[in-house]
Amino acid sequence: MSDLGEFLGLLIITSYGLTLLSFLLKWKYKYFKKQINEITWIKDRFTKIMKFFVKYHRFFGFATVLFILMHFGVQFSRYGVNITGALAAGLMFLQVGIGVYGFKMAKRSKLWLWSHRTLAVVIGVAIWIHIN
Ligand code: HEM
Ligand code: HEM
Repeated sequence: MSDLGEFLGLLIITSYGLTLLSFLLKWKYKYFKKQINEITWIKDRFTKIMKFFVKYHRFFGFATVLFILMHFGVQFSRYGVNITGALAAGLMFLQVGIGVYGFKMAKRSKLWLWSHRTLAVVIGVAIWIHIN
């Protein structure tokens, strides 16, 4: 039972990581565009993979929330309330809310981008605290 909880926790971290890949790959492309485009087979694969993660960014975000609910179900029934877990989960729910809001915005503001980016980092710290 505790192994299932741990496994679900790792699934949360994995989907959170996959959600971040859209940003990380775009960032890499921005700074290494020249090098990437120099070699055709790398260019083709890189842009394909990058587009995939940008396109499905929101679904990885939704998967994260789904795994949180499952992890919560297992861990809460066994250990009860967990403050650091609740904090990380609360921030993640907020992040998905902000993400959905931005997705529906006609033009995303600087404030929105800043909030969504900053929270992504804060969540990382919250998860680290929770598992340590
Ligand atoms: C972003 C949200 C969360 C992530 C990424 C996450 C991740 C994890 C991971 C990877 C573990 C295993 C750590 C280890 O074995 O050392 C774990 C353990 C645990 N989690 Fe979470 N968790 C989250 C939210 C929650 C929530 C909402 C609860 C509320 C019940 C919770 C309760 C627990 C408990 C009780 C443990 C076991 C702690 C222990 O073995 O000492 N977690 N979590
Ligand atoms: C695990 C939850 C999530 C994390 C950690 C996360 C993180 C990020 C990050 C770091 C960026 C990059 C911002 C930039 O370009 O500098 C971003 C962009 C964005 N996110 Fe999220 N996000 C999450 C969930 C969501 C969800 C659920 C949605 C929508 C339903 C969403 C919508 C967007 C949009 C529209 C953008 C800007 C366009 C793009 O770069 O694709 N995010 N997100």
